Amino acid sequence: MKAVAVTPGKPNSIHLVDLSKPDVDSVPYGRGVLVRVLKIGMDATDREINEAKYGAAPPGYDFLVLGHESFGIVEAVGDQVAHVKPGDYVTATVRRPGGSIYDQIGTSDMTSEEVYYERGINLLHGFLTEHYVDDVEFIVKMPRGLKHLHVLVEPMSCATKAVQQAFEVQRRLRVWRPKIAYVMGAGQIGLLSTLALRLRGLEVYTLARSEPPSLKAEIAEALGAHYISTQQTPLNELAKKVGKADLIVDATGSSAIAFGCMQLLGHNGVLVWTSVTGGRQHVEVPSDKVNLDWVLGNKLLLGSVNANREHFEMGIKDLALGEVMYPGVIQRILTTPIRGLDSYPQMMQALMAEQPALKVFIEVAEG
Ligand code: BGC
Ligand code: ZN
Repeated sequence: MKAVAVTPGKPNSIHLVDLSKPDVDSVPYGRGVLVRVLKIGMDATDREINEAKYGAAPPGYDFLVLGHESFGIVEAVGDQVAHVKPGDYVTATVRRPGGSIYDQIGTSDMTSEEVYYERGINLLHGFLTEHYVDDVEFIVKMPRGLKHLHVLVEPMSCATKAVQQAFEVQRRLRVWRPKIAYVMGAGQIGLLSTLALRLRGLEVYTLARSEPPSLKAEIAEALGAHYISTQQTPLNELAKKVGKADLIVDATGSSAIAFGCMQLLGHNGVLVWTSVTGGRQHVEVPSDKVNLDWVLGNKLLLGSVNANREHFEMGIKDLALGEVMYPGVIQRILTTPIRGLDSYPQMMQALMAEQPALKVFIEVAEG
């Protein structure tokens, strides 16, 4: 079967490879699930892996199959599998356990080890192929009613985790009643974080560079948020007008902004960083000022990577509630379908465009 892979360490090496179809019994103890891939979402992570900024092949291979945002249909299950059956729509988590205690309790997103295992990203092949097999532990069933949102579950799980983690750490305050949130960036994670925050009752300002009208602005507004173009309203002006934020989610992929927005956080607030930046940028920050503010205001900076099964399940609930609260809005993120694995050059082009599409996904098969 066909798969789309890169040669890690070699820029622009994306190519097709041939793999043999996996067997459901390759997972021990009858716990295997064989999935026929229907759609795979692509994002900046895939682009940066193809730019050789990070990413590693599994041991014994010189290539890495891409694809970590999966949507598929179960074709066969091992004899110990109970909670999914052939014909179910499923997605899969991305991280796989290492050896730390966090890995052992199903929270490998919180591993304390330096090495991490992520399908399609680091040391494990991804899902951009025709079939895959995995342990049922990592397979998440999707409700049929959310089929049209297919590849958005994985990015939603990251956004939901980021917001959930913020609420979790803020229990330090005994009482926390956040009102204002800023979301930096209006790409998929920015918009899905906007959704997660709106569902939790916050007044959300979603900030991005481009001036409205634009699809991003329309989606943010349709989710009940305020879209702010930073070209029209400089950040400090916004903070003066509406007040500093109780919670900020940065999803820009720019370390300059990730640090810059530290100055927009109010007392007792929490800033969550969600994007990884594979570059080597150095920026100057007003460190004395930030240091002073941060201590005097009991502020918190939180990194949030990836998501475990629980966040996938919470993310699915957020998508379902989002459909009820804002019918038909979320699917507008799914802008750019690309047909067939053979079309990987068009897929990369869409990811590398000057104005990248909101969501590029490959339609691998009908179903
Ligand atoms: C993926 C996460 C992953 C992260 C860092 C993101 O694009 O959605 O699952 O952990 O990249 O590798
Ligand atoms: Zn991703």
